[in-house]
Amino acid sequence: MIVSEIISEIRHKRWEDKSASWGLVPTMGSLHEGHLSLVRQAREENNRVAASIFVNPIQFNRKNDYDSYPTNLASDLELLEREGVDLVWTPQKSLVYPEIFQTYIDVTQLSKVLEGAARPGHFQGVTTIVAILFNVFQPTRAYFGQKDAQQEAVIRRMVEDLHFNIEIRSCPTVREKDGLAMSSRNANLTKKARAAAPVLFRALNLAKVAIEKGEISSKNIYQLLKNEIEKSECAQIDYISIADQKTLNEIKIIAGNVLISLAVFWDEVRLIDNIRISNK
Ligand code: PAJ
Repeated sequence: MIVSEIISEIRHKRWEDKSASWGLVPTMGSLHEGHLSLVRQAREENNRVAASIFVNPIQFNRKNDYDSYPTNLASDLELLEREGVDLVWTPQKSLVYPEIFQTYIDVTQLSKVLEGAARPGHFQGVTTIVAILFNVFQPTRAYFGQKDAQQEAVIRRMVEDLHFNIEIRSCPTVREKDGLAMSSRNANLTKKARAAAPVLFRALNLAKVAIEKGEISSKNIYQLLKNEIEKSECAQIDYISIADQKTLNEIKIIAGNVLISLAVFWDEVRLIDNIRISNK
């Protein structure tokens, strides 16, 4: 496995064998089984696999969130090596964003709702770094997790609009045994919050069951989710959304392909989760 901070070295390895297909897994490190599931899918579908580890400062809208974001480069590299990754880019902040840096990518509409409304500037930071990663690696395919459903939708829009010749692949959310979606931020939960946090997936499943039984009112589903989550006294709901999967616009009546997503604070730690429901 080649690990480098230097773009010319990444490009050299990338183009060593021009006929090889490459899968790219962009990450911010502190890797867990969720990230590794993306690597495994990339491994299955490509001749070579690349990953990036970079805690992207411009996608954080709260300084505290950036400062407390866990890092663990040595063990991340060990995990990636064990998964048979061929190439890893671990750039310095000053290389990616030199002082003169002034080019940003903005997916104007999809970026404004949900996570974008709650975290202004977040998706501009994501699309800018992902475009940089796509240009550095020029992968055949790139892998993203459904846990960040809006991120995937925003990146797909960018790829279509800017004609990146890259196939976006999406991978299911990997969960702990108790249902909590794996996240690097879980490490920052207090013991009490960690014990309570599986309520998120439980609530989403209750909503799913209610919809399968015929509930079509978003208002009722919203209330059901809210009641369930508020049973946990340390949870602070940031938002609960019931939206169309494609446009991410809120819907009143549940029909078609629906994305139910939520963001909840546990003290300073903000967790997100979602499920997709088809109700035709
Ligand atoms: P990060 O949070 O490190 O996540 C990297 C990738 O792993 C994302 O595509 C994310 O959706 C996926 N992922 C995280 N937890 C997962 C889980 N439990 N199951 C399945 N996949 C999971 O997302 C980012 O980094 C950044 O925004 C990035 C795209 C790297 C740009 O900086």
